Amino acid sequence: MNLKEMVGIEAASYVKDGMVVGLGTGSTAYYMIEELGRRVKEEGLSITGVPTSWASKKQAEGLGIPIRTIDEVDAVDLTIDGADEISQDYHGIKGGGAALLFEKIVASNSKKVLWIVDESKMVETLGAFPLPVEVIPYGSQQLLRLFEKKNYHPKLRLNEEGEPLKTDCSNYIIDLHLETITAPTELAQELDATVGVVEHGLFLDMVHTIIVGLPEGPSTKHVR
Ligand code: 5RP
Repeated sequence: MNLKEMVGIEAASYVKDGMVVGLGTGSTAYYMIEELGRRVKEEGLSITGVPTSWASKKQAEGLGIPIRTIDEVDAVDLTIDGADEISQDYHGIKGGGAALLFEKIVASNSKKVLWIVDESKMVETLGAFPLPVEVIPYGSQQLLRLFEKKNYHPKLRLNEEGEPLKTDCSNYIIDLHLETITAPTELAQELDATVGVVEHGLFLDMVHTIIVGLPEGPSTKHVR
């Protein structure tokens, strides 16, 4: 069993009967959704899933997990999602899979947020992983110039055909190659205030529990 599968299965054990569960996106969240599907089928687990991407929605539906959108539930009990980086003070970068907008909306409406990662994602300071910024296509070239001027080393994310990758909301992603983010709160505020930016991948003070996959087994930290 690989580390992603191990933490995915461990995280699914936090899901109890009757819960509304935010279903994350990515190769780690994939295993958690598979395990929830198994529990629904084999154990009769009764849950409602709130997917954070069309890909997770399709997977969950295929497994027979009942699905609602974030607008169709009062709140989410627990969201389980992957992350691209987690710092020592438990801030995160997400959006490597381009699903940051729905992921942040679902996480913001969740009573508890649980991240599942392998040990390679745990870092001292955020920023080696390029920071995804979701932007409206109109004016995106202007934003690229603005970020260039600020020395943020922006790159428009492309799909396999070499065209701008479109998110589930038909926006673009600009990845900022910052190397190190020394002031994440200030950067988040700056990006929040930039016209044309829809959302960014800095997930600050959002996670309650982290399950890290280590070769010797999953290690769980309750951080809030
Ligand atoms: C998608 C995400 C993912 O959670 C993040 O990219 C981690 O993915 P993976 O588990 O495949 O490494 O934020 O937008």
